[in-house]
Amino acid sequence: MDRQEYIEHLLDHFRNPRNKGRMEDADLQLGGGNPGCGDLITMYLKIGAGDRIERVSFEVEGCTISQAGGSIVTELVAGKTLDEVTALGTAEMVEEMGNDVVKSRVRCATLALGTVQAAIHQYERGRERERVGARMTAQDAVPFEN
Ligand code: FES
Repeated sequence: MDRQEYIEHLLDHFRNPRNKGRMEDADLQLGGGNPGCGDLITMYLKIGAGDRIERVSFEVEGCTISQAGGSIVTELVAGKTLDEVTALGTAEMVEEMGNDVVKSRVRCATLALGTVQAAIHQYERGRERERVGARMTAQDAVPFEN
């Protein structure tokens, strides 16, 4: 895509956002903000078999790029595993939105992706805590032998 096509792509996602709205039955929900401007986004994820993102949606109050970014991220991460999403970097997101178009607005462009990744990180930490808790409970259940 050339610069103009990237701009049109962004504007299309801004005007016709995909997967916008609250998800009542989300497994994961996390808000993120850009401290520089106060814009806010909330990402919702439904996790399916094999740790794959089954559904994803977002709500945002932010600039054109962060709004378009929310929509683009939902298409980018849908169907991917949590590990695959965690491995995505700023470069992929900026490339997806057009390097030339968003290079001076990287924080806006990556607000949605950063929030999805933070949600996944929180989810995995919670699962790890549960695993450790379950192990400790199982150990506690072993009768002490003399
Ligand atoms: Fe706030 Fe873009 S100006 S996220």
